[in-house]
Amino acid sequence: MTESLEGRIQRLLDRDEELLASPWELFDDVRSASDPAYYSEAMGAWVITGYQLLREVVLDPETWSNRSPTATYEFRNPVADHASAIEQEPGMAEAVRRFRNRSRGRVLNTADPPEHVRQRRALNRAFRPSRLRALEPEVKSVSDQLIAKFLPRGRADLVQEYAVLFPMVMISRMLGVPEEELEMFKGWSDDFAIPIGRARPSRDEVRSYIKSEYEFDEYFTALVEQRQAEPRDDLISDVANAEVDGEPLTYEERMGALRQFLLAGNETTTTLLSNIGHRLATNHELRDRLASNRDLVPAFVEEALRHEGPVTGLYRVATRDTQLGGKPVAKGEFAWLAFAAANRDPEACPVPQVFDIDRESNDHVAFGYGEHYCIGQGLARLEGKVGTNAMLDLPNLALADDHTYNYMDSFILRGLTQLLVTFDPDNSGADGWNMDK
Ligand code: HEM
Repeated sequence: MTESLEGRIQRLLDRDEELLASPWELFDDVRSASDPAYYSEAMGAWVITGYQLLREVVLDPETWSNRSPTATYEFRNPVADHASAIEQEPGMAEAVRRFRNRSRGRVLNTADPPEHVRQRRALNRAFRPSRLRALEPEVKSVSDQLIAKFLPRGRADLVQEYAVLFPMVMISRMLGVPEEELEMFKGWSDDFAIPIGRARPSRDEVRSYIKSEYEFDEYFTALVEQRQAEPRDDLISDVANAEVDGEPLTYEERMGALRQFLLAGNETTTTLLSNIGHRLATNHELRDRLASNRDLVPAFVEEALRHEGPVTGLYRVATRDTQLGGKPVAKGEFAWLAFAAANRDPEACPVPQVFDIDRESNDHVAFGYGEHYCIGQGLARLEGKVGTNAMLDLPNLALADDHTYNYMDSFILRGLTQLLVTFDPDNSGADGWNMDK
């Protein structure tokens, strides 16, 4: 007997390994059953897998609000229960109190117009093209340094030794925090990801999450104050001094923006780089073609973003009674925008399952669309291009025989947790490494 769509969606929510590895057939089946929208009881949301409909929803923020959870209610309720118990633990009362207050803040990805428009006007310049252009040599040098560590070995885990660290180091540098504090950053970033696409967290996880939020606030409050007094050319200074029409952002807005800058770019860019590494290590014909024609790298990165979008899907909530493709939707109902699925809609992209860098056009929505369009896309694309070139420089890059496939424990973000590869080792030291590539 074939399994129902709802059964399969439930398995995705339960993070069934087979579906985390390949949700594509399920998304195709949801799209076929959609006409054009499909309500999933299991998800408690309309699941939007069609490209056109997704774009219509994101372009109507008045009706479809971003004040929706990235985490499900299944997750939120246990967090609230655990928080009450954790509040009684020694030294945790203040952290829990602040945690509760903070959840009310609406910033960037959880804000709607007009606040959101104001925030974007104040913060867009933090990732301005001229800053990214100036950053390029540093991006290359960070990538080179990471690769130099495993280059003589002829073997690496490209996820843990490269793709995880690269965006983390870059965002810390852009923020302007010392490198020694990277471990602490990584701990926070991992903890902030706990609620994303998970259900039923343990009390230990919730404690760790609340503690990290508290430590993050303490740390950045001090830095923001310092940069207000003495601005530098870094992201913290931009956020600390951001204003619109002479009005500064609020404390909550500044902290929320910094938290999103730290979190939103890490696992997503890690996934992009891992997917790129996997593609190059398994498709040697494409690898060699790119290696001998580097002009094709940007199109390759765009196709990697389209073909396996790092963000599987995010929620919106209806602010009023409305309709989706003619089907009635009541105020308060949720929609799950499956960005990664929309990129494989055959109506928008011919033969979408094929990875093809020679496509005539590639208007993917891996970075979203409309007013919440990813603020860090320029940085992510730059890291994607630099990362691709660096991996192409690993001679004979191939998947290691002992590689096994494991995916992140989330239905919101999809990516490998390890990528074991081999290549021809280079024992010639730093001189043998071409820093100009
Ligand atoms: C390959 C890497 C990345 C992918 C696939 C990605 C994907 C996305 C998507 C799909 C959205 C739209 C969310 C929505 O419509 O609700 C978004 C927004 C956002 N992204 Fe990214 N992102 C990436 C890298 C980054 C980086 C490097 C940063 C910052 C350093 C960043 C920061 C943000 C922020 C702050 C938002 C919220 C913007 C807003 O609501 O106005 N992202 N991203």
